[in-house]
Amino acid sequence: MSTEHFDVVVIGGGPGGYAAALYGASAGLKIAIVEKSKLGGTCLNVGCIPAKELLETATVKRTIDHASMFGIQAEITGLDWATTLNRKQSVVDQLVGGLGGLLKKRKVTVFDGLGTLGPDHKTVSISGGASGDTTVSGGAVILAAGSVPRSIPGFPIDSSRIVTSDELLSIPSLPASAVVIGGGVIGCEFASMMSDLGTEVTILEAEPSILLNCDTDCVKVVKRSFKKRGITVREGVMVTGQTTEQNQVTVNFGDGEQVTAETVVMSVGRRPASDTLGLEATQVDVDPRGFIVVDPQCRTTAVDVWAVGDVIDTAQLAHIAFAEGMLAIKDLMGEAAVPIDYVNVPWCIYSHPEVAFAGLTEDQAKEAGIDYVVSKHRFTGNGRAIIVGETDGLVKIIAQKKADGTGGKILGVHLAGPWVTEQLGQGYLAVNWEATVDEVAHFIQPHPTMSELFGESVLALTGRSLHG
Ligand code: NAI
Repeated sequence: MSTEHFDVVVIGGGPGGYAAALYGASAGLKIAIVEKSKLGGTCLNVGCIPAKELLETATVKRTIDHASMFGIQAEITGLDWATTLNRKQSVVDQLVGGLGGLLKKRKVTVFDGLGTLGPDHKTVSISGGASGDTTVSGGAVILAAGSVPRSIPGFPIDSSRIVTSDELLSIPSLPASAVVIGGGVIGCEFASMMSDLGTEVTILEAEPSILLNCDTDCVKVVKRSFKKRGITVREGVMVTGQTTEQNQVTVNFGDGEQVTAETVVMSVGRRPASDTLGLEATQVDVDPRGFIVVDPQCRTTAVDVWAVGDVIDTAQLAHIAFAEGMLAIKDLMGEAAVPIDYVNVPWCIYSHPEVAFAGLTEDQAKEAGIDYVVSKHRFTGNGRAIIVGETDGLVKIIAQKKADGTGGKILGVHLAGPWVTEQLGQGYLAVNWEATVDEVAHFIQPHPTMSELFGESVLALTGRSLHG
């Protein structure tokens, strides 16, 4: 059996792997990508894309619910979940198909099968898929195996009673009631979507707050809205077990409390899928939690092997994986690759209301002993938000405090409210360009837009303001 040689062999066809493949191919490298399931990985197939598609269904429902205030008389007569799932799947299929086409156009060779790294750190064995059993070799290998949902002991996952995000995204019918275990990003997005579509939702969160890594003012916006919409949020409660009867699951939590629902959604984090890569026989170090150990350049402990995406211990976000994939390619090409500044990466949470942020939260600035100033402006005074009829939420800017009390360098931008995931861009640039309040306040915001509120909030830190 001959072994075809490539400049780079990438194991894993999710955002980390395919970004490395596309970027490397665009730089003239001969690339192979090995994928055991579907191109696009978690993000395209069972993550970002299908989840946001279902959240859009919830948005359509909310819009119709509020149509009468615009004088549009509309009545919702039902939810055709099969159509909802079909649309979600067609969006996924379109993007997965597009990705396949893009890889082909860039002349990336795609192997269908499970890829494992050999002890020489160059040979990758491929097995069990449509490409048959074969081996390839790479001048460099990039490990991008991704992650899988975690569960907790005593909660066996099935297709509709106790589910993770994988199953929920294709659940045959939406349950009348659900207990969401874990109030992180996935838990809050699914709780929001299900509640808007008519499910009675309870969130059980072990930590003192849901969305623990978000600024507390943004979390308050989400909690207030969840409460208004009837979502029960229980924080600081440990889940201790469950009993399943035919049509319902009773979850035990806290100090002898119970909650019963048709479906339990397990959203307690994701674990790295490093265990299928054959790493035991290699020099690639894996930490006790299963993350592949890397340096800031995403180099593993084995020569000429890089690792990117959810399989390393960095924020499990598709856009971080893209950045790491490109970083690894630059590094293996011998270019000066600037490491990722993980503190200031962009975060977007697509619950209703949405949350988006980059940089330090107020608590983090306080803990770091930074002398800072804060500006907060609410969407209640923003023309576009009033027009749209969605005024819950705020923009919060954290900046270094200058001697005269005005704002200096912008350290954190935190948004909660309507369309904020689409508004974070300039906040992200401001933080990462290390822009000052005076520099950003000089720029004009188009009117009427929701993004005016960002400009207004920055302007206020100069010591003068317009509306706020
Ligand atoms: P997460 O780490 O964001 O949240 C998990 C939550 O579960 C935490 O708040 C944790 O305290 C809680 N928890 C853990 N064990 C528990 C227990 N036994 N009982 C009650 N609560 C418990 O993980 P999540 O939401 O599952 O998401 C996985 C990854 O995917 C995250 O890294 C997330 O950032 C990423 N993701 C990002 C999205 C976005 O950026 N919009 C969307 C979906 C996922």
